[in-house]
Amino acid sequence: MYTSFQELATNVSHRRVASLSKKSGNHLLAKMCGLVAADEARHANAYKHFVTRIFELDPSEMMLAFEDMMKRKIVMPAHFLRESGMKISELWAHFSDAAQRCMVYTTQDYIDILISLIKEWGIEEISGLNNEAEKARDYLMNLPQRLQRLSERIKIPEKQYEFKWLSV
Ligand SMILES: [Fe+2]
Repeated sequence: MYTSFQELATNVSHRRVASLSKKSGNHLLAKMCGLVAADEARHANAYKHFVTRIFELDPSEMMLAFEDMMKRKIVMPAHFLRESGMKISELWAHFSDAAQRCMVYTTQDYIDILISLIKEWGIEEISGLNNEAEKARDYLMNLPQRLQRLSERIKIPEKQYEFKWLSV
């Protein structure tokens, strides 16, 4: 479940870095990021296929797993980024803000990925769920709209943190 989401997220972010690199004239970096993005799309397809199969075998447990994962939130990409003298959570917040400001990976991408997975696995139409899994389905079906409302209220900080590995 996690990897289905995560591979789609890294596909988006590498694709965006590729087009930013192309625009700024770094064609080699653009090519590398494009190749990685294409790989990530293939990985996503594999994981999505596994999940489709598990939904056929055990729809209730798979539905609960999807709900559980979305409740924990998918913090990606670069969650384990490190820099000396900096708390990991703080550094990641700066990185995530920068990614949003450059439109490399945004809250809207997160919501769009969630919607695409709900469609891909036909969450709305899955039958044979137990009561708990029915509730999980309701939660998942309402989640994109809830996140959309939240994201409209979020303001990305203007402050631009200087990452040490980018300093000249
Ligand atoms: Fe991957």
